[in-house]
This record gives sequence, structure tokens and C-alpha cells, in this order.
Amino acid sequence: MSGRIPENLLEDILGRVDLVEMISGYIPLKKAGSNFKANCPFHHEKTASFMVSPERQIYHCFGCGESGNAFKFLMRHERMEFPEAVEILAKKCGVSLPDQDKPELARAASLNSQLYKVNELAVNFYENNLHSGSLALNYLINRGVKLGTIKEFHLGLATSGWDNLINFLRSKNVSLALLEQAGLVLPKESGGYYDRFRNRIIFPVFDLRSRMIGFGARVMDNSLPKYINSPETPVYVKGKNLFGLNLSKDFIRDADSAVIVEGYLDFMIPYQEGLKNIVASQGTALTLEQIKLLKRYTHNVVMIYDGDTAGEIATLRSLDLLIDEGINVKVVPLPKGTDPDALVRSEGINTLKDKVKKAESFFDYKLDVLRSRYDIKDAHGKTKIASEMLLTINKFDNAILRGEYTKRLSEVMCIPEQYILEELGKLKPADSRSAGQPVSSAKKQIQINPAEKLLIKFMLEEKEMIEKIMQQLSPADFADTRTAKIVSVIQNLVLEGKNITPSVLMNYFSEDDASQLVCETMFMPALDDQGREKAVNDCITRIKIQRKKTQREHLHLQIKSAQSLGDEGKLNSLIQEFHNLIKKGD
Ligand code: UTP
Ligand code: MN
Repeated sequence: MSGRIPENLLEDILGRVDLVEMISGYIPLKKAGSNFKANCPFHHEKTASFMVSPERQIYHCFGCGESGNAFKFLMRHERMEFPEAVEILAKKCGVSLPDQDKPELARAASLNSQLYKVNELAVNFYENNLHSGSLALNYLINRGVKLGTIKEFHLGLATSGWDNLINFLRSKNVSLALLEQAGLVLPKESGGYYDRFRNRIIFPVFDLRSRMIGFGARVMDNSLPKYINSPETPVYVKGKNLFGLNLSKDFIRDADSAVIVEGYLDFMIPYQEGLKNIVASQGTALTLEQIKLLKRYTHNVVMIYDGDTAGEIATLRSLDLLIDEGINVKVVPLPKGTDPDALVRSEGINTLKDKVKKAESFFDYKLDVLRSRYDIKDAHGKTKIASEMLLTINKFDNAILRGEYTKRLSEVMCIPEQYILEELGKLKPADSRSAGQPVSSAKKQIQINPAEKLLIKFMLEEKEMIEKIMQQLSPADFADTRTAKIVSVIQNLVLEGKNITPSVLMNYFSEDDASQLVCETMFMPALDDQGREKAVNDCITRIKIQRKKTQREHLHLQIKSAQSLGDEGKLNSLIQEFHNLIKKGD
């Protein structure tokens, strides 16, 4: 896993980083005994099974099995490659990587960083185009985008023509294969490639770390499609990104609230005018992953989608998901045909800010939408409205809130509360529903001989145990290749006179399973001295018995094969070996 970055540097970095503090920057951690716990950021759950150990500097989720040290957390959570995670943490804790390691890091740079680089080159090209003509620039200025904003967002222009970008990037020695992977070009049926974006304003899309990951491209007239977007690429996973969050995240944290809009300009214009705690979903209902991203910064959301049917549907769908994730959500309804960008231009930013302050509860918003769709005076319409409302109310875990909302529903709809409660009772409770959801990429616990697992735990808990165990067993005695690997690494480190900690140990494994095993064992309950002494001896004995059994089986097979080959000499020596093995007794 570590490539050629010196181990002692990795150790140095891990020694200075505080994993608890680092993870707290992403998700709220709660003290639980000597550890901290949280809802796992790597899978969907409602009861906390994600543990962080301040003492060991490792984390482990008992729900999905995700585990590791500070490097691994960054790799998984920020989707970074290892060298990148090392660079970030080194910088953060003031460890300087020696110069000779930097080209090494650059060489280790993955496809992902090549894609960022290509996108960056493309953005430079598009920006140059925009600023060397006046038509597109005027289009933006006329729409109220100031020059400073155009520059801050690196807006650009794809000129007409089929191969302007291709020619430019080819002159920079970028391969066509890479251009295609970046989604910037498309293959022609007749062979060769052409530019995906032509004669359009370019809106670069950034990730949380302000790396360029994709593009939206808008026509400058009323032709269709209005936008053409980058396809999904290894660095551009649409449902996982929120437009503008790289710029607004600190404002969102400070305000403890986020305004969610749909479009690029719905983000840019309010942001430019001073509403800074804002993100754009890029024209879709929110995804679970986008909500998780947002939850790092706030649990309060105000949705302002376009005042049209599509906006209404996207809002309703997002509401349920937000509530499901425990977010406190409000809605600003806009008149038909308006969006935040248009509103700010026609009425000014204070009107928008005012609307945000007076945002409606999800309850009133959804009820209004349903009333406009169904006839509340008709029994069927009324039933429809009530049951749609109940679906959302049922998303709340909190019994008090559920009670509040059912009471209000009964009042505004003039339905006896008892009927409403009866209907609510028929719905599956929120908790069991999510518990029943399959855990994505579930790894759960690793199936392994418990004796081998326990010995790993003891070795990592107490230095003296390593010597005791290694006197009686060698790595090859461990039947599982993962434990064998862990034991052999521990042994080598001891020989080198190194101090062994679980979080440092992990740098030596490229396989996820080995790290997961280490973490899993470390979060198993500790035994007292007496219990441990006995358990160690039991485990060693069990492994020895297992070893002997394996050896016997192995010899037995060899003997059989020598018999069938009629190899007398071999047969005799094997049988002798077999007797010796049995004589040693167990
Ligand atoms: P809108 O149609 O509301 O566009 O789509 P807009 O952002 O307000 O643009 P203007 O004001 O007409 O210039 C909202 C968002 O949906 C995505 C874009 O991300 C857009 O910003 N979208 C829209 C597409 O991806 N493709 C489309 O054809 C239309
Ligand atoms: Mn618009």
C-alpha cells in the first residue's frame, strides 16, 4: 500500500495526526466508553456501529466492516489515492516529505489525477476563449454575472467547430484515450474523435477540494438541449457531488444551514450577491450521498427549487430523503416560472434572504402541493392527501415529532386523530424499514478461526505476547493467509526493533482484509490478565493441533500418491515421517 514512501515518514505522520479530531471534522462522534462512536459514514444505518479508538488510532464499522487508520479514512471518504492521502496529512501535521519522494508521488499519480489535470487544461482553454471574444462574455454580463464571478468560477466558452479542444490538447501531448475518458471528446463512427462541447458557455464543476471534475455547457440562445453535461467519469460521479460546496462549505458550517437550489446560475447569482451558504443539486432530486456530504456541515436545509412541476416533484422526493436522514428541512415555494436566479435579478438578494428566513415547514409545503393536485372536499381526494402526508410523517424517528404532525394533520384536514393514528400504524415503522435495507458493499465480519484472530489481538495489545507466541508458532502455522501475513509482518518489525501499533501496522497491508482483521480484533472486548494468560495458551494449543492435523492430511495425500506411482523409496521415507509426527503426540 505504501509504495516507496518511507515507512518511518508514514509512522511520523500517523503519530502526529489525531484520528478522533480528524473524523470529527466529517461526522459527529459520541463518546462511548474508551472509544467514540457514530453512524457509519460508509453505509446507511440508524444505530451507530462505527467505532473510533483514540488509543489505537483506528476505526472500524461493525455493520459493514469498513476499517483502517487515518490514511485509509481519507482514501475512502474523500476517494483519494494513497499518495494523495499521505500528502494531505503530511501537510496538515507539518511533516515535510523529502524532495526525492515528490517525483515518486507524482509517478504514483493515478488515472484520477491525470483526469483532473486534463480537465484543468481544458478549463484554461475554454476560459481563454471566453475572454478573447465579446459575444459570450456579454451574454453572461447581461445575465447579471459580474466579471469577478466569471473568473472565480472559471466560466469559459467552447467555440463552434468540431475539433478546437482536441487540437489544443493534442498539442499539449494529451492522449485521445485520456480525453475520451475525461468525457471531453466523442468517437466518430468514421473513426477519429470530435469535441463534445461546441458553441456553448462552459460551467466547470468542482469537487469539495476544488479539483475540476466535469462540465456543464449551456447554449446561448433558446435551442435545445439547454445543457450538455460531462458523462460520468472516474472522477465525476454526479450523485456524489454538490455544485459549489467547495466554495460554500465554511459558510454553511458557520450559518449551520444550507440553501439548496437547482441550477448553476441559481447558485452563482445569489452567491455573488451575498447569500453564501448555498449549493446546487444540478437539476435533480437530491441523492443519499449528496445529503451525507451536506450532513458534514449542517443538519438544517432550506430547499428552493424552480417554481414548476419538475421542481415540485424533485422537492417532494428530496424532502422524504432528507427527513429520513434526520435533516431539519424547510421549503421556499417560488411562483411558477421563477427560479432563484431570476428572483434575485428582479427583486434583489434581500427578497431571497427574506424568503429563506420565512421558509415553510415541509408539512405546509407538501400539504399545499397536494391540495393543488387533489380535491380536499372529495372523500377520495382527502384520503389521498392524508396518506401522502403520512408517508412523510412516518419518516420521523422521533415519537414526539410524529405526534405533533399527526395532530396538525388531524386539525387542518378535520379528520379525527384516532383515524390518522390508525393509518400511521399500518405503515412500517421508519426504523425497521431502514434496518431491512441491504447494506451496500457489505463485508460484515471476516470468517476466520477465532484462535488465530485472538492471537493477533494479544500480540498487538502486549509486546511481551509477541515473543511468547513466536517462540511456539511461526507465521506458517497460521492456516489463514491473512493472519499469516499479519504475523509475519509483526515478526519482521520486532526483528527490526520497531514499536508496533495497529495503525502503523496497517501501512504494510495492501489487502483490505488484513487491515479489517486487525481493526476487528482491536475492538473486541479486552480480557483481564488471568483470562488473557489462559486464552493465549488455549489458542496456541488449538493452532498446534490444527497444524498437526493439516500436516497429517498432507502426508496422507503424499503417501497415497507415492503408492499409486509405486515409488517405494519415497513411500518408505514418507511413512517414516508419518510415524515421527504421530510419535511426537498431542
Ligand atoms: P434549469 O432548466 O432550471 O436551468 O435547470 P437554469 O440553471 O435555471 O439555467 P437558465 O437560468 O435557464 O440559464 C437547472 C439545472 O438542471 C441541469 C443544469 O445543471 C441546470 O443548471 N440541466 C438543465 C441539465 O443538466 N440539462 C438540461 O437540459 C437542463
Ligand atoms: Mn434559470
